[in-house]
Amino acid sequence: MNNRTKSFIYAMAIGLIIVIIFLGFLSSFTNPVSWLLIGALLLIPIFYKKSAQSNQIQWKDEYSVGITHIDQDHKKLILLLNQFTVAYDHAMSEVFEKEALEKLIDYTKYHFEREEKMMRENDYPDFIAHQAKHQEMIEQVNRFVDLYNEKGHDALKDISEYLTVWLIRHINGTDKEYSQYLNERGVH
Ligand SMILES: [Fe+2]
Ligand SMILES: [Fe+2]
Repeated sequence: MNNRTKSFIYAMAIGLIIVIIFLGFLSSFTNPVSWLLIGALLLIPIFYKKSAQSNQIQWKDEYSVGITHIDQDHKKLILLLNQFTVAYDHAMSEVFEKEALEKLIDYTKYHFEREEKMMRENDYPDFIAHQAKHQEMIEQVNRFVDLYNEKGHDALKDISEYLTVWLIRHINGTDKEYSQYLNERGVH
């Protein structure tokens, strides 16, 4: 269920509760059902906030590769990914979701260049294989962007899922493979 549907359901529930409270007070101002429903009404924003945050990714210390500027890049990527997910999930406007997607892709490319430069400068033995994974991802993202330009918003679900899984798996897997090698060469 996307957030747009969730917002609609919450709005309907709130409307219904307000009507029942009002009808309850018409019969008696001490009607316990009305007072209980007022309590329920106050709790709704808390549940809504929790469920809206459920598809947001949180940075975890275990994602660290032990190199400060790379960790900062990865944190920024997670932030941009979350912003893109919000834009896509709420389906607020085409301009907003397109801008969020472009920002995420641009920063991903910038980060790949920085990471590859760091590996190259330190003669990282698995550089070619790592670079190939970056290129593969960019090619896949380009295919998705073509699909987005063709289909619009409907193509974003696949893009969002792909980027979320790929980025977290890559940060927490492939990137960590260079940590020890680079740390031993004084890169922190
Ligand atoms: Fe990375
Ligand atoms: Fe990488």
